[in-house]
Amino acid sequence: MRQSLVVGNWKMNGSLEANRSLIEGIKQNIVSVKNAEMAVCPPFIYLQQIKDLLDNTNISWGSQDVSQQDLGAFTGEISISMLVDFGCKYVIVGHSERRSIYGESDKLVAEKFAKVQSAGLIPILCVGELLEEREAGNTEAVVKRQLDAILNLQGVASLEKSVIAYEPVWAIGTGKTASPQQAQDVHAFIRKQIATLDSNIANKVQILYGGSVKGSNAKELFAMSDIDGGLIGGASLKADDFLAIGQAG
Ligand code: PGA
Repeated sequence: MRQSLVVGNWKMNGSLEANRSLIEGIKQNIVSVKNAEMAVCPPFIYLQQIKDLLDNTNISWGSQDVSQQDLGAFTGEISISMLVDFGCKYVIVGHSERRSIYGESDKLVAEKFAKVQSAGLIPILCVGELLEEREAGNTEAVVKRQLDAILNLQGVASLEKSVIAYEPVWAIGTGKTASPQQAQDVHAFIRKQIATLDSNIANKVQILYGGSVKGSNAKELFAMSDIDGGLIGGASLKADDFLAIGQAG
């Protein structure tokens, strides 16, 4: 049985005051979440605040990105050792907004994935197709290409200590959720691809769904056999919504 995981990706949202009240709201009712592990990924600059607020709770935290470099003259970048300093458990890599707005390639995402693992943190690898790729019948080919970049660089064993998030780009922030069956089909495809190399790891790896998950649709998504939780954008910014999703886990 895989542990259910619900991760809030705050993206570029928040303020000291808004974060404090959001975390207090989550903490107040976290007992209502019975099965899922809950985690939040704030903007880098708030990691210390979130660490202070979440220390000694069972809520985890992580970052939304990391540099592929170790240290030095890389203006604006954040290294993995810095994320270790702030107690991060998870690091999101390859989010579609990083891929599409900032031009991150499959190769760069694989390098970031490797960097996260080298420090003993857990990468959350995002994969997913654009609307035109789905309409052209290329969903599986795109997801396979994104996954293969990791397998080629790091090997299948690397997936044992990682999380995969399937996020169809057309469902992110649009209010259009993939149907439970559409999501399940891609999750099963991902697991099957991994199983061709190692069935034990394929069975163990958590595969989250992301893209307009809300309290009202989380239960039917998470009920699918290969969906192990969610990566949540908009609905992770309100304590009640985020907790409702956690309760479905
Ligand atoms: P959304 O974002 O829940 O707002 O669609 C999900 C994500 O981008 O991780």
